[in-house]
Amino acid sequence: MDLLDTLRSTGAVRGFTDDPVSDDTVAAVLDTARFAPSGGNKQPWRVAVVKDPALRDTMAGLMRPIWEEYMGANAVGKRAFAFGRSIDAAPVAVPNPLIDEIRSVPVVLAVAADLRDIAIMDGNLDRPPVVGGASIYPFCWSILLAARAHGLGGVMTTFLSRAEPAAAPHLGLPADHALVATIFLGVPTHQNTKLRRNPVPTFTTVDRFDGAPLS
Ligand SMILES: Cc1cc2nc3c(=O)[nH]c(=O)nc-3n(C[C@H](O)[C@H](O)[C@H](O)COP(=O)(O)O)c2cc1C
Repeated sequence: MDLLDTLRSTGAVRGFTDDPVSDDTVAAVLDTARFAPSGGNKQPWRVAVVKDPALRDTMAGLMRPIWEEYMGANAVGKRAFAFGRSIDAAPVAVPNPLIDEIRSVPVVLAVAADLRDIAIMDGNLDRPPVVGGASIYPFCWSILLAARAHGLGGVMTTFLSRAEPAAAPHLGLPADHALVATIFLGVPTHQNTKLRRNPVPTFTTVDRFDGAPLS
């Protein structure tokens, strides 16, 4: 596929056929994703390809209450887990196939980042740091793009990061590593290519963030 077309049309995939995905394909996807950029080229990523059904169940069990908390906030029209907001909403049980049927997802990747290799340039500020993520999320996105080139689709999720302390021993998360994403991959039942995204003028100005619109 043309690069621009791919970038404009790689939507999240949460439904997969029964087609298995071989280890060779997973390795090939990762072999492309490893060319992602990272601060100082430190390549802080670690990937666990989670195959053990019982371990998947454990992950799902940890994700479910977080999903329900998220949906509880949604139900009262709030953005869950956003900075500066505490939301007192009851959890809402909504089916989530990624969680409920985690055993049948063809590929489950737990992605971790070695915090000793990440420059957290905004770590000194009086707000939650986000810049460190720039050394790991391009890698995650490259996994999704490379997967598409192999006829796969998928989605990046971050539910499990909220339960990192509980998940860590099950996944053997090394010390000083952050659990940054769980990525689900497989052959899509449907690949959404018509993505809803805000147009450039809604987020682009000249010189300053309160500047004139870029014409
Ligand atoms: C950092 C990040 C976290 C995400 N977490 C979840 C998640 O926990 N569960 C989920 O179903 N999708 C998750 N997504 C996928 C987004 O919901 C999806 O990219 C967005 O809704 C756009 O969907 P589209 O590409 O199909 O238009 C996440 C995406 C990103 C980039």
